[in-house]
Amino acid sequence: MDFFKDVTDIRDIVASDIKIPEEILDQMPIMAGRGWWTYALRQKGVNVIATDDFSWMNRSWIDTLTEVEEVDAIEAVERYGKEVDVVTMGWPYMDDTAYPVIKRLHEVNPNALVVYIGERGGCTADDNFHEHFEIMFNDPKFNKVTTRYQSWEHIHDYILLGRYSE
Ligand SMILES: C[S@@+](CC[C@H](N)C(=O)[O-])C[C@H]1O[C@@H](n2cnc3c(N)ncnc32)[C@H](O)[C@@H]1O
Repeated sequence: MDFFKDVTDIRDIVASDIKIPEEILDQMPIMAGRGWWTYALRQKGVNVIATDDFSWMNRSWIDTLTEVEEVDAIEAVERYGKEVDVVTMGWPYMDDTAYPVIKRLHEVNPNALVVYIGERGGCTADDNFHEHFEIMFNDPKFNKVTTRYQSWEHIHDYILLGRYSE
């Protein structure tokens, strides 16, 4: 079974009886929101440490689908960055948070990969982030995921694999 070939979004993960292979990497969603992605991964037995500072809209929602720790994104990277292989970042604000997060992650764990979901210049993250986020276009497994990613209507969002670069 090829995880990246057969599992492409949250619905696939939750609805399917696909087994996550043991070699799948430990993940840390930061700015995890209500934890949809976290929930789906945990359903399949992936090791996930999820964090969010719960600042969204002054937290108009009061519950999460699964455990999401209340921690600022930078602090989360400093606390857990060494323990994880992949940090996922879905729809970060277009403020100055996403850039220092990947920079700090690189300092604490240079091998960590980043999965970024959002626009490439637009309504998510800022210019500094996009200038220093080196997209890895050549991962064949991940590229299969990207072909099946469904964008939000009228939004030019992507799912991208990459890492910090100077
Ligand atoms: C647009 S929401 C995206 C939520 C989720 N990733 C998703 O795709 O549904 C942005 C999230 O980032 C969180 N956030 C914003 N600034 C943060 C920070 N400095 N540290 C941690 N979380 C933060 C907000 O609380 C919110 O849940």
